[in-house]
Amino acid sequence: MGDPRPVETLLAADRIEARVAEMAAEIRRDFPDGLHLVAVLKGAFMFLSDLVRHMDGPVSLDFMALSSYAKGTTTSGEVRLLKDLDTTLDGKNVVIVEDIVDTGLTLTYLQDILRARGPKTLRTACLLSKPSRRLVDVKVEYIGFTIDDHFVVGYGLDYAEQYRNLPYIGVVGS
Ligand code: IMP
Repeated sequence: MGDPRPVETLLAADRIEARVAEMAAEIRRDFPDGLHLVAVLKGAFMFLSDLVRHMDGPVSLDFMALSSYAKGTTTSGEVRLLKDLDTTLDGKNVVIVEDIVDTGLTLTYLQDILRARGPKTLRTACLLSKPSRRLVDVKVEYIGFTIDDHFVVGYGLDYAEQYRNLPYIGVVGS
């Protein structure tokens, strides 16, 4: 039943909230008219819901689910599409909403397949980035926080499907 290990706070809920509000304002400023957000399940669900709450004006949403074939806490590099979008991206200003960019392999795969669908613009917003782990040079226009090489959980992020419900981001203790 769950995982009993304690979680040491890395980013408190109020810091996340303030930064997500700033990111929402920045994205809105860049796309004052139409904006179509594509969130990556499951990890981005909390980030997306807070992000859109801080956006006025027209916003539409869609969801994708990917499997990164994680081996423990590291990505294998193989990505599989589990759930595709419900609507086309043709001519839309699309912003991918992702929880974290680690090696960059998942996001590179996603950007490639979405770019092929003819959006007017394609940008990416990630709440977290671990640049020291990058294996491919992927472009992310909006980054919430840059963090060191820790495996983090909470605020949508999981370890073995646990901890997604935490309102803060932390590191699982041993
Ligand atoms: P990448 O392909 O290595 O960039 O990994 C991206 C995916 O791996 C993310 O969307 C997460 O689902 C997962 N991931 C990477 N680092 C972490 C972490 O620190 N905590 C939880 N999930 C992570």
